[in-house]
Amino acid sequence: MPCANQRRRLPKGWRRLLTKALGNMSIRNKWDFPDLGLGLGLRTVHYNHILEHNPAVDWFEILSENYMETEGRPRKILDQISEKYPIVMHGVSMSLGSTDPIDFNYLKSLKALAERVNAVWLGDHLCWTGVARKNGHDLYPVPYNEESLRHVIERIRTIQDYLERPLVIENPSTYLTFKSSTMSEEEYIFRMAEESDCGLLLDVNNVYVTCRNHDLDPDSYLDSIPYDRVVQIHLAGHTDKGTHCIDTHNDHVIDEVWRLYGEVHKRTGGRSTLLEWDADIPEFNVVHEEALKAKRYRNEVEVVDV
Ligand SMILES: [Fe+2]
Repeated sequence: MPCANQRRRLPKGWRRLLTKALGNMSIRNKWDFPDLGLGLGLRTVHYNHILEHNPAVDWFEILSENYMETEGRPRKILDQISEKYPIVMHGVSMSLGSTDPIDFNYLKSLKALAERVNAVWLGDHLCWTGVARKNGHDLYPVPYNEESLRHVIERIRTIQDYLERPLVIENPSTYLTFKSSTMSEEEYIFRMAEESDCGLLLDVNNVYVTCRNHDLDPDSYLDSIPYDRVVQIHLAGHTDKGTHCIDTHNDHVIDEVWRLYGEVHKRTGGRSTLLEWDADIPEFNVVHEEALKAKRYRNEVEVVDV
């Protein structure tokens, strides 16, 4: 359930009201990262199809850790694919919320991979993935309070300085709240982005899953996003258990998430959009066709540059 002490920086619905007043606004991201179009997550089961058919995918996102500290087949295939397609790196082990010291050996490998594949940008999640140097291989939530916020901001700043580029950080799917939280997730993300000067990856499916699990309004959540910091969007399917949703990435995107994507598009005028399908992965063309559905929402929404 939502925390009793949630505070908002701005009046509820201010951005939606402004959008209505001015028409659909297109807000550029502050780094002028390009809209790469519609991309897919690069998955091993699709390697052969991609190498044989050179499909008309605009770009690929890789899971960074799958290509670090290896010189095996995946890395050689990535070298070939990165010669033909723009590559974005998305990691799961930066552990921004952990109390462990920052792992500079990990960052060194990450930086080397980014240079090797000429990554357009790279990022990770608002979460922690381990403690005491043990990796739990999952994305664990952080409490939304001042102490945690200061900790995460400090780590983001340090990591950005080391990598010499902005991080693009994804909003999580969450399943619980902390008694120690004193602000909403949206306020936390807003302040994290503004005060660390990082970019955001807005996962629209995660917004839906989190809001369903905590009985929140996803449109209100989207009103609080600083769109000048949104560099990339994720779309995915999830599992609806009736009482709650799980972010499983194993199915088609549901209509409500597509609607929310359309709302985001009105505010951005177009951001690099990535379809995630990571379990029960169907053949390449099914995943590609799902990503191409985004064209409808990108074309039918009129946007105005401001
Ligand atoms: Fe995602």
